[in-house]
Amino acid sequence: MSKSAEIIIDGKSYELPVTIGSEGEVAVDISKLRGQSGVITLDPGFKNTGSTKSAITFLDGEKGILRHRGYSIEDLAEKSTFVEVSYLLIYGKLPTQQELEQFRQEITQHTVVHEDIRKLLDGFPSNAHPMGVLSSLVTSLTAFYPESLDPNRSWDGVNLSIIRILAKMPTFAAWAYKNEMGHPLNYPDNTLDYCSNFLKMMFSLPVEKYEVNPVVAKALDKLLILHADHEQNCSASTVRIVGSSQASLYASLSAGINALWGPLHGGANQAVIEMLEAIKADGGDTAKYIAKAKDKDDPFRLMGFGHRVYKNFDPRARIIKKTADEVLEALGVNDPVLEIAKGLEEVALKDEYFVERNLYPNVDFYSGIIYRALGIPTEMFTVMFALGRLPGWIAQWKEMRENKEPIGRPRQVYTGPNLTEYIPIEKR
Ligand code: ACO
Repeated sequence: MSKSAEIIIDGKSYELPVTIGSEGEVAVDISKLRGQSGVITLDPGFKNTGSTKSAITFLDGEKGILRHRGYSIEDLAEKSTFVEVSYLLIYGKLPTQQELEQFRQEITQHTVVHEDIRKLLDGFPSNAHPMGVLSSLVTSLTAFYPESLDPNRSWDGVNLSIIRILAKMPTFAAWAYKNEMGHPLNYPDNTLDYCSNFLKMMFSLPVEKYEVNPVVAKALDKLLILHADHEQNCSASTVRIVGSSQASLYASLSAGINALWGPLHGGANQAVIEMLEAIKADGGDTAKYIAKAKDKDDPFRLMGFGHRVYKNFDPRARIIKKTADEVLEALGVNDPVLEIAKGLEEVALKDEYFVERNLYPNVDFYSGIIYRALGIPTEMFTVMFALGRLPGWIAQWKEMRENKEPIGRPRQVYTGPNLTEYIPIEKR
């Protein structure tokens, strides 16, 4: 492959350097093009634009490959744990036994949140969406740990901020749910593993004994692994771009949570279940909804279908579909919407519209069905996604800082009015 590319603008040729990634991905570096020619590139939605060089996650959307730091998602989901994958993403390598133990202990030490955060929570109405509550609580950490505002402080200081958020996020997520339910808050139980501690804070009530079901804890751990990172998606790019202004880790993560919230991104898992429920309530006629999704005059989209980068299959969706069957069987749950989901998938995968556009189930198509079987309510689904994506966002923020990336600031093609004379209001 040539080390440079040529672009001809108005008959004049410009040579542009070419960068090749470790998996052979080729990029034309246009960063100096405007300086040389006065011309910018236009790419709404960044569909063809690489914003960074990254060593965290490799994704080949055509082949359905997803790897973190070189390890396949299939291997990690099968053999690892969420805490170990978090270490891998953030620190760049698999930990030794001792390193993992130390990491676990550090996280366990910081699970308790400042009591004043309860007062903040008290201020939210019970119908507040838990994603809004979560992002607010994460930002509030800047007030409780003001030293975290400086992203340029020592590595030990930065690392402490990282450990704190990994430790406190399950507490925040469970409390966002308790606020919604109007139930008393539970404190962390440091004798439990990451997911069991979260489940206990979510579901235990002072009036009854709560035992964490190991099947549920294991299934949740796998779901979190499957959501742990996904390279430069909408929320990760948001975290990097906010952090590029040297805003703090917590401010950047809170922005990432808000970016994830939308139904075209992490909010899709909630939207999928709501869609499946609506189809069920409407008699389960999947063909009708496939037709609606194809109709350009109908805003309805098949939620949980399609992906910006996967154009063959989403490897996470394959694992989740299998896990959904296993979890529902192990828990003895018979969820009719699982059958509706499978029916929709079967019809869509044969339909010319979906085939032509390479639309396949994405990670969120089946994840909601598992969350539901685990007892997690619909409006908490995106919070679960945020809990899983946290180490990925941290790794992306840390890499952006370490690479000393410049502030993110896209350009635009202006299409508004030309210079116009101001007319005083009485003469308009
Ligand atoms: N249902 C029906 N048609 C669809 C769907 C869908 N779910 N997704 C894409 N299309 C169609 C579009 O209408 C468009 O058709 P056209 O070429 O005739 O105009 C074509 O497929 C391409 O779609 P775009 O929206 O241009 O693709 P883009 O890459 O911008 O969007 C996205 C990807 C947002 C994921 C889209 O597929 C979608 O809205 N899916 C449903 C929401 C969803 O599941 N989001 C979760 C994504 S995974 C994640 O964030 C974790």
